[in-house]
Amino acid sequence: MGDPIVERSVVLDALRRAADAATQFLAEIDSDRVRHPGADAAAARLTASFPEEGSGALAAIDELVALSDAALRSSGPRFFHWVIGGDTPAALAADWLTSAWDQNAAAYDSTPLGARCEEIALEWLKELFGLPASWGGVLTSGATMANFTGLAAARRWWAKRHGIDVDERGLASLPAVPVYSSGYIHPSATKALAMLGVGRETVRRFSRDDVGRLDQRAMETALRDLGGAPAIIVGNAGEVNAGDFDPIDALADLAERYDAWLHVDGAFGLFARATPRTAQLAKGVERAHSVIADGHKWLNVPYDSGFAFVRDAALLGGPFGIGAAYLPKPGEHPMFATLGPESSRRARGIAIWATLRAYGRKGYRAMVERHLDLAQHLARKVDEAPDLERLADVPLNIVCFRYRPKDVKAEELDALNLRLGAELLADGRVYVGTTRYRGVVAFRPAIVNWRTTESDVELIVDVVREIGARLGVMAAR
Ligand SMILES: Cc1ncc(COP(=O)(O)O)c(C=O)c1O
Repeated sequence: MGDPIVERSVVLDALRRAADAATQFLAEIDSDRVRHPGADAAAARLTASFPEEGSGALAAIDELVALSDAALRSSGPRFFHWVIGGDTPAALAADWLTSAWDQNAAAYDSTPLGARCEEIALEWLKELFGLPASWGGVLTSGATMANFTGLAAARRWWAKRHGIDVDERGLASLPAVPVYSSGYIHPSATKALAMLGVGRETVRRFSRDDVGRLDQRAMETALRDLGGAPAIIVGNAGEVNAGDFDPIDALADLAERYDAWLHVDGAFGLFARATPRTAQLAKGVERAHSVIADGHKWLNVPYDSGFAFVRDAALLGGPFGIGAAYLPKPGEHPMFATLGPESSRRARGIAIWATLRAYGRKGYRAMVERHLDLAQHLARKVDEAPDLERLADVPLNIVCFRYRPKDVKAEELDALNLRLGAELLADGRVYVGTTRYRGVVAFRPAIVNWRTTESDVELIVDVVREIGARLGVMAAR
């Protein structure tokens, strides 16, 4: 098999096979193991030597389907590791169409449909999160690039305060950028700062305890010590270990008082604003200068998807502007290639438009509230179990706990929980990773998948206790 043109007619068969396989995959996903026992073996069987002669589309698709045990069921209801959402029916189907239509969402000229979906999706997301309609926005590949986008606008603003157009002249003539945060700052934000030439180490973390909670007074002193020079504050709406929040309103006060830019990383925590039950946690986000979140987490659209909102959207044109005689000029419609890091870009707005069109504000509120209830249910189950210890309050959708049987010595608990974590992932019935919280090894299941129900979160407790009992007996010997 050579040039794809010789099998032009095969595309429909290839799609049908893909649809059949996807249908099978999804028919089983609610009860399936997250990790199939044959995952590693299947992954190892993929053709890995570059073929001189191709197999043709059907054989290539068949090979992938035959090895689909290697795919984690991470879009299913029992994946609680990291913060990974699934894909709603509307988002998934729209994403298939996005590939079939293969639009370049750089500009309206290259895709009226993709560009309009993105424009509308951004407006709707602002409504969902209670952000001012006047703000600009852009879709990105995820929260890391959304952080990059918001912080690029912040960097431009900060350098302008020093009289420099940083996107034309670079950082060379400028002092180090003062970037202040709490201990909750996510490595994605520091990665973005590294990519922006600001540097990871420039971040000063003001925390008042071993969890990382903001020391507001120390941050204020540091801002005052700048003597009027501008700074960037990174606020964290939803940290990954326990789902806690920085006091965003208080950070907004500091930003106003000391001439600072407030950037808020709300990768998943911004969804607290989708329901009045938790909106208070993220109060003040509407006063920030830039705010970001992920689409592929709590919005439940397929990878990859994120979004950045910036109060003064004109700032994005500095780092991300791109122009050439053959390219369109921004006009009636925003040219998204000039507002974010990618130039040619996937039309991610189509899946976001479809899921928001399908479920609306009420649907998303109901889903977030269901997850809040599930988190409380899981917390109760943890509290009731004599061999589990909850380590933190549950303000949102994450339950932080560890296995702690009575007969295992305190100094052996970390090793036991680490082994338990590894065995849990290998077992594959539920997927929950470990972290370190207050200096100890802990589990931190995060609930963001639209499919998850009570029996799924109860399985976490059952499996942790079952494997823990097996390992604990050995540890106690
Ligand atoms: C608070 C926070 N910020 C940023 C990120 C990075 O997101 P992404 O992997 O989509 O770039 C995450 C991912 O878990 C997160 O929880």
